Amino acid sequence: MTDLRPRLPSPLQEVADDRFERHGVRLLLKRDDLIHPELIGNKWRKLVPNLERAAGRTLLTFGGAYSNHLRATAAAGRLLGLPTVGVVRGDELAGRPLNPSLARCAADGMRLHFTDRAAYRRKAEPETLAALLRAAGAEDAYVVPEGGSNTLAVRGCRALGEELRGRADVVALACGTGGTLAGLAAGLAPQQRALGIPVLKGGFLGEEIQALQQRAFGARRGDWRLDERFHFGGYARVPAELDAFADDFERRHGIPLERLYVAKSLYALVTLAEEGAFAPGTRLAAVVTGAPFGG
Ligand SMILES: Cc1ncc(COP(=O)(O)O)c(C=O)c1O
Repeated sequence: MTDLRPRLPSPLQEVADDRFERHGVRLLLKRDDLIHPELIGNKWRKLVPNLERAAGRTLLTFGGAYSNHLRATAAAGRLLGLPTVGVVRGDELAGRPLNPSLARCAADGMRLHFTDRAAYRRKAEPETLAALLRAAGAEDAYVVPEGGSNTLAVRGCRALGEELRGRADVVALACGTGGTLAGLAAGLAPQQRALGIPVLKGGFLGEEIQALQQRAFGARRGDWRLDERFHFGGYARVPAELDAFADDFERRHGIPLERLYVAKSLYALVTLAEEGAFAPGTRLAAVVTGAPFGG
């Protein structure tokens, strides 16, 4: 995979932002969005170990109509000459023109298989999965779960924590499945803390991250916690206030902000700094886990 020339370790960039400085907090951006132009952010860290394990087999994975993970998988397939199949939530989409995200997947050679929402929800159950693979004509495929967070992916994300050893006191990032946080926390040094900002509503994520760590490392690892207040109504909800925050952040720092994850995590950090959650002198690293599509 090194022939894809990843930029690793990813850069750690300090930015001057008065909303942190006035509380004595140093804000550092861990630019995982710069690792690779197409396998962006946590996608590189999660997918590469799976691509290696797939060893040339068709790679099948799952996602919604705007999934970053589907796009990254399709791009990886094109770059490495691997066949890919994307199982897309919502069979009602099958007869419609592809949205720009799915069109990109298809252009990268991903075969799209649309499935009804009930089957999609049960895709982790062996019988439903077997039926889905049959229906998609991909019975021998190497299967990567939705969001890409299997054990190999979680172990792959440990390197993110290792790159930050000694360089930050608190490391924060947005969480979907929690796989990135599960790995990151395991890679940090003992005195470092990880803070996850779930972008989905639900309050279920803590247990799932614990289970991911159990499977990947045999036990809970690292000092991590979640702040569940910043989902903005749920997945893919981007109210005007968040959009305005992200526009302003982009203007201040010249960094394009992915809205569904990265913007929510930075909004959370500004609020937490305002609340005095970080002691003066804290080096706060925010992981830029992705980039806007087409941005
Ligand atoms: C840009 C971005 N950031 C963060 C995440 C969350 O990663 P995880 O599912 O490992 O929590 C995702 C997941 O797809 C993502 O696309």
